[in-house]
Amino acid sequence: MKISKRLNVIADLIEDNSKVIDCGCDHGLLSIYLALEKNCNVLATDINENALDNAINNIRKYKVDNVTTKLTDGIDNIDVINYDVLVIAGMGTMTIKHILEDKELCDNIIISSNNQIPELREFMFSIGYHIDNELFITDKGKQYIIIKFVKGKKKYSKIDIEYGPIIKDDINYLIYELEKLFEIREKVKYSKFLVRYKVERKIKRLNKLINKRSQ
Ligand SMILES: C[S@@+](CC[C@H](N)C(=O)[O-])C[C@H]1O[C@@H](n2cnc3c(N)ncnc32)[C@H](O)[C@@H]1O
Repeated sequence: MKISKRLNVIADLIEDNSKVIDCGCDHGLLSIYLALEKNCNVLATDINENALDNAINNIRKYKVDNVTTKLTDGIDNIDVINYDVLVIAGMGTMTIKHILEDKELCDNIIISSNNQIPELREFMFSIGYHIDNELFITDKGKQYIIIKFVKGKKKYSKIDIEYGPIIKDDINYLIYELEKLFEIREKVKYSKFLVRYKVERKIKRLNKLINKRSQ
């Protein structure tokens, strides 16, 4: 079965035969792939009835019997502790925080957030997870960060929180971040001094990191 590069990278982080929750499954393609290609048992959930119907149709189309579905907000009414891996992909950090806050969770959580990645890292560290793996990928011209969090605390620096303890060594990622900052610099060029100053300070810090990596 063929899935997007982004979903493939997520699937590669999951061991064969795992019990997985695919939260916000939408089309359900990741769930189906995990069931068919990695013999996983998957619970595919979504808050949106139409999205879940879409997943149910795909599950029927691919004739898989080890994917079940549930209409719910995040992981409400699910015993997450009984699963090996929770996947949350394609949502924003605020929604992800809402889903995970004050919940009993499993050991492995794979997240691909659409925004506010430093806030996401900080939140996950605060609830007792560390980063086991982290990837920066481009799929169909769009960039994504995929992070595998594992239970257990670790100490991280400010740079680790901002740019990731692993992908801060990926020069392609750092250049991507720098280009984003250049765009922001252009947008704020008529803003107050403090706003411009903060952007310049970020650019300076990032340039320092890039220079270190290129030496
Ligand atoms: C952009 S799609 C991502 C689909 C798939 N996970 C992927 O990465 O390709 C986001 C999905 O998350 C669902 N969603 C948004 N908020 C949710 C929540 N609080 N609980 C469960 N699903 C949610 C949406 O209905 C939508 O189907």
